[in-house]
Amino acid sequence: MAFRYVDNELYVENVKVGDIVREVGTPVYVYSKNHFVSQFRKFDRAFKGNHIICFAVKANSNLAVIKTFAELGAGADIVSKGELFRALKAGIEPSKIVFSGVAKTKDEIEHALESSILMFNVESEDELLNINTVAKEKGRKVPISFRVNPDVDPKTHPYISTGLKKNKFGVPYDEALELYLKAKKLENIDIVGVQFHIGSQLLDTKPIYDASVRIAKLIKELQSDGIEISVVDVGGGVGIVYNENEDKEPSIETYAEQVERAFNGFDLKLVFEPGRFLVGNGGVLVSRVVYHKSNGPKNFMIVDSGMNDLLRPSLYNAYHEIKPLVKKDNKMLKCDIVGPICETGDFFARDYEIEDVKNGDCIVVFSAGAYGFTMSSNYNSRPRPAEVLVEGDRFRIVRKREILEDLIRGEEL
Ligand code: LLP
Repeated sequence: MAFRYVDNELYVENVKVGDIVREVGTPVYVYSKNHFVSQFRKFDRAFKGNHIICFAVKANSNLAVIKTFAELGAGADIVSKGELFRALKAGIEPSKIVFSGVAKTKDEIEHALESSILMFNVESEDELLNINTVAKEKGRKVPISFRVNPDVDPKTHPYISTGLKKNKFGVPYDEALELYLKAKKLENIDIVGVQFHIGSQLLDTKPIYDASVRIAKLIKELQSDGIEISVVDVGGGVGIVYNENEDKEPSIETYAEQVERAFNGFDLKLVFEPGRFLVGNGGVLVSRVVYHKSNGPKNFMIVDSGMNDLLRPSLYNAYHEIKPLVKKDNKMLKCDIVGPICETGDFFARDYEIEDVKNGDCIVVFSAGAYGFTMSSNYNSRPRPAEVLVEGDRFRIVRKREILEDLIRGEEL
């Protein structure tokens, strides 16, 4: 475990989190590099066949985090020009970058073309035609796969479920063959693969297996129509434990066995786009308690970070474990843990049982390494937190705390 209590004080690897807070202040995101490395290796080791792991940059786009994966040989799954910029800066090889997303603009396509990425995951016929036009202008042939929507229910939160007919993602399974045939006729398109991604935070990998079986069937049909597929991109989605009492982490070995079984018999390179699994439990958000108050029967613990720093509880009603930075045997308190933002939806937890943490002491929000900082904003004109990366007994600031001047950069009176 990257984060553990020793004599009632929280450590990350061999560093006391309290020492980081003393130097860097609050709120602060703290990451464990060795957790990231070990999650990557665990994922990588599970697959026996030809594969690459493209870290989903949207989960945590800090340069030092992306670089950690680049050094392990990872590629990147990107969804914007900004993520491409970050991935390249952090040292990801362009030939290991896949570009997903429903709304890639001409400008973004041009950028990615210039970098010679592994492939574009195309999500509509409009996009296919646009990519072909841009490629023609540049005198290039572009490697693509279609993101096919297998219409399989991933049984996760509706906001992060993507593989159903009613979702905006991908091309419908039943229309995929026809689209591949259209793409085959386009001069500047080079069909290389099929991609699918049915959702995020899946604690049961069976829906990914079911989707894989459907995709394998499609590949057979494509082959009989003379379309060669050499890459299958299975997307991301493997979940992590947020609630120690309720969640059970899926077995990566089972997941690997299921996916490899579904595509057994094909000569394929498998691409994976994990985000949360690699970084989610390798990060925490540390925040200081500012005040307590009670409105009638309701108790509030008010802290110095809010939904602008960590949006997941407000947006998805997501559960995060919250514990004191230093356990002191104070009495337990049932309270809402809320931030400073002027919104009723600004909470990290509701009716939560926690050892009372006095004003001026700190709480730790766990499992904040994925979709934490990346979804943060400056709402209420709050500078965003610092990010710190720990390795062994050392830590360093990998993103400075924002200052007031950062808030108005580019603005004019
Ligand atoms: N590939 C594609 C095409 C995706 O859309 C996503 C996530 C991933 C890979 C990575 O999925 P992961 O392995 O991290 O589950 N903000 C939400 C999660 C949104 C996920 C969006 N797509 C949250 O905080 O739970």
